[in-house]
Amino acid sequence: MSGHGTPTPMTSHRAEPLKGVAEVPGDKSISHRSLILGAMAIGETRISGLLEGDDVLDTAKAMQAFGAEVVNHGGGNWSVFGVGVGGFAEPDQVIDCGNSGTGVRLIMGTMATSPITATFTGDASLNGRPMARITDPLALFGTKAVGRKGGRLPMTIVGAAEPTPVRYVVPVPSAQVKSAVLLAGLNAPGKTVVIEKEATRDHSERMLAGFGAEITVEDTEEGRVITLTGRPELKPQEIAVPRDPSSAAFPVCAALITPGSDVLVPGIGLNPTRAGLFYTLQDMGADLTFENPREEGGEPVADLRAKYSPDMQGIEVPPARAASMIDEYPVLSVVAAFASGTTMMAGVKELRVKESDRIDAMARGLRANGVTVDEGEDWWSVDGLGPDGVPGGGTCESFLDHRIAMSFMVLGMGAQNPVTVDDGSPITTSFPIFEPLMTDLGAKFTRA
Ligand code: S3P
Repeated sequence: MSGHGTPTPMTSHRAEPLKGVAEVPGDKSISHRSLILGAMAIGETRISGLLEGDDVLDTAKAMQAFGAEVVNHGGGNWSVFGVGVGGFAEPDQVIDCGNSGTGVRLIMGTMATSPITATFTGDASLNGRPMARITDPLALFGTKAVGRKGGRLPMTIVGAAEPTPVRYVVPVPSAQVKSAVLLAGLNAPGKTVVIEKEATRDHSERMLAGFGAEITVEDTEEGRVITLTGRPELKPQEIAVPRDPSSAAFPVCAALITPGSDVLVPGIGLNPTRAGLFYTLQDMGADLTFENPREEGGEPVADLRAKYSPDMQGIEVPPARAASMIDEYPVLSVVAAFASGTTMMAGVKELRVKESDRIDAMARGLRANGVTVDEGEDWWSVDGLGPDGVPGGGTCESFLDHRIAMSFMVLGMGAQNPVTVDDGSPITTSFPIFEPLMTDLGAKFTRA
């Protein structure tokens, strides 16, 4: 899907107390990887709980274009009949990854060490995002890339016919870069080594091991050293995708700022590389508890219970926690507006190259609603106005960014006056049931 259709303005009004159970969809990161690794195995991988958001559906189409068979059985149950490592066919059309940075970057990595050529494009947001962070390490395998100025999409990748394995130190904290190199390493003979200085989400490592690849992870002085042995035969898997902590963030945060709320968000993956937001909210004094902690499919999981929390305090979010909550800063900044005191968020330069410049997008929208925000290149701070102090009444731009749109819808739930988002249509990229799920809890959303 390239570009979005007609903008859908949405307004969020002060909510009733939020009550009930919020069953959020499957994890986006794990959903992309299930389809891609399923395509790299030989035989049928069965997936339940797949996120059926636009981003993941675009990855499913891409896997078909590269020769895998992908079957939707309905109800989140899918099968992928994989072609094996090195078995990708050359697609006969341009691969359109829509809004998805994860989709395009992981797929580029996966095809980069096969003797095929593919051209990638996306929507206006994706076509503005940096791809050199992917094509630089892929060049070390022998892969060629030709894109627009600044290494932007549309871009053609010419896979390496005789790839050599690489040793690569990831220069930015990015699971997408790490994963693209590992996926490329699958079809390179010998050992590919990826070193990350800061731990980022480790789904690729866990899932590659689950599919039968030989992969080791060592914590050393240099960082996390991941070693993958190329050319494995990946075995098809049964995958139950856990619910997405990044989507759970929205009903959780909405409950914390809406008087009288008590919401249960069951079955949320609490992988330590993903759960930073929830610990940060607890540090701020949120009434947020983890019930029924358990393990599912090798991942720690719990039911989250969030209650209205009028006594939250602003804090300095530890920069070391940034990677584990990188997608949650937009909605955290909304919660910060309802806390007392200032919340400081540092070490977050990566926010500037997400689906939008998320610091800029949130700062603009919060200011339009009466909240004071200060910012620098890699930090920002929000001055809290207390539980009933956010004026609202403003209109915010979503900049083709699902998480920006959803964050401002949450802002309106606790603000004194309604908050309007100029375009809510990007929400379907990651959380297609956001609107009914939130309104079932007690949110009041209207469309112009
Ligand atoms: C993701 C990694 C993160 C995150 C994105 C999903 C992934 O991006 O922001 O939403 O699934 O690997 P970066 O790798 O750019 O940090």
